[in-house]
Amino acid sequence: MPTPIILDCDPGTDDAFALLLAIASPEEIDLLAVTVAGGNVGLDSTLPNALALVALAGSAVPVYAGADRPLLGAFESEVRVHGEDGLGGVVLPPGGPATPGIAADAIRRIVRESPAPVTLVGIGPATNLALAIMTEPAILSNVDQIVLMTGAWAEGNRTPAAEFNAWSDPEGLAVLLSCGRPVVMATLELTAQALCTPAHLAALRGAGNRRCLQAICDIQATVPLSRRLNGAGAPLHDPCAIAYLIRPNLFTTRACSAEMDLGPGPSRGRSLVDRWDRTGRAHNVILLETLDSDGFFDLLAERFVRLP
Ligand code: BDR
Ligand code: CA
Repeated sequence: MPTPIILDCDPGTDDAFALLLAIASPEEIDLLAVTVAGGNVGLDSTLPNALALVALAGSAVPVYAGADRPLLGAFESEVRVHGEDGLGGVVLPPGGPATPGIAADAIRRIVRESPAPVTLVGIGPATNLALAIMTEPAILSNVDQIVLMTGAWAEGNRTPAAEFNAWSDPEGLAVLLSCGRPVVMATLELTAQALCTPAHLAALRGAGNRRCLQAICDIQATVPLSRRLNGAGAPLHDPCAIAYLIRPNLFTTRACSAEMDLGPGPSRGRSLVDRWDRTGRAHNVILLETLDSDGFFDLLAERFVRLP
C-alpha cells in the first residue's frame, strides 16, 4: 500500500523536485494534499509555484495556502539560491486556483479523517505543520511519522549555526521535535550527498524531452553551485525526504535526540543533534546519515520520465 502523505513545502527550486517526485511515485506515495508556506520566497510566489508545478505534472492533488510568516518573528526569504520568484526565473504556465481553506485546517481534517495513519512531510519552514499540531494535538494519534528536510548536525547554510528551514521557524520545528511522534531528519550533511553536479544535470536532461523533466532541469540550471560544497554542484535537499519514503534502502539511519536552539543570539535556529547520546535525552529523531547518491539520481530519472 502506498504511504499516505501531506507534503508541506515552499517552492523553491529543490521543492519542485520533491513535489514532482512525489506525484511521479503513486506506487509508494499517496499524495493527499500539498500545503504551502512562505519560505524560500513569499507565499505570494510559493503558492502559485506549487499550483503551476502540480498542473504541469497533470495532477489533481489539492493545494492549500498556509502561513506567510513564522510563528514568531519576521519573514525572510532566500532569493540568492531560488531567485526572486522561487523558481530561478523559469516561467511555467499558471496552474489552477488553490483549494479553499487554510493549510493547518486542511492538515488537521485530512489526518483526522484518514483511515490509515498519515505521514507529514515538511520541506520548508515548519509553521503549517506546527500550527496543525498545536491547535489539535489529538491528530497525532493518526500521524505515522514526520519526515523533514531540516537542520544540520554541524554547520548551517543560512547562518554559521543554522540551516535555512530550521532558522526560518525554529519554534515551529521545536513543536515538531517535541510532539512525541518519530521525526525523520534529512539534514544538510545528508543532502550534501544529493549533490547535483553539472554532469548529473546533463544526464537528467538527456533522460527524455517531456515537459516536466525539461522544466525541472531548466530550474536546477539556475541554482548557483554551492560554495559550501566547493562549487562542485548544488544539493537537491528536499527530494531526499521523498526519496526516503520511496526507497528507504538508499539511506542509512541513526536514532538519536535533537532539540532546537531558540535563544536570540547568533546560534538561533541551530538544531542540536545528539548523535553520540551525550545528553542522555530520549531519542526523538531518526537521522538520515548516508545516501546512495547514484541510486538517488537513478530514481529521479526513472520517475521524472513518467511525467508529462
Ligand atoms: C532548505 O532550504 C531551502 O532553501 C530549500 O528549499 C531546502 O528546503 C535547504 O536548507
Ligand atoms: Ca524547501
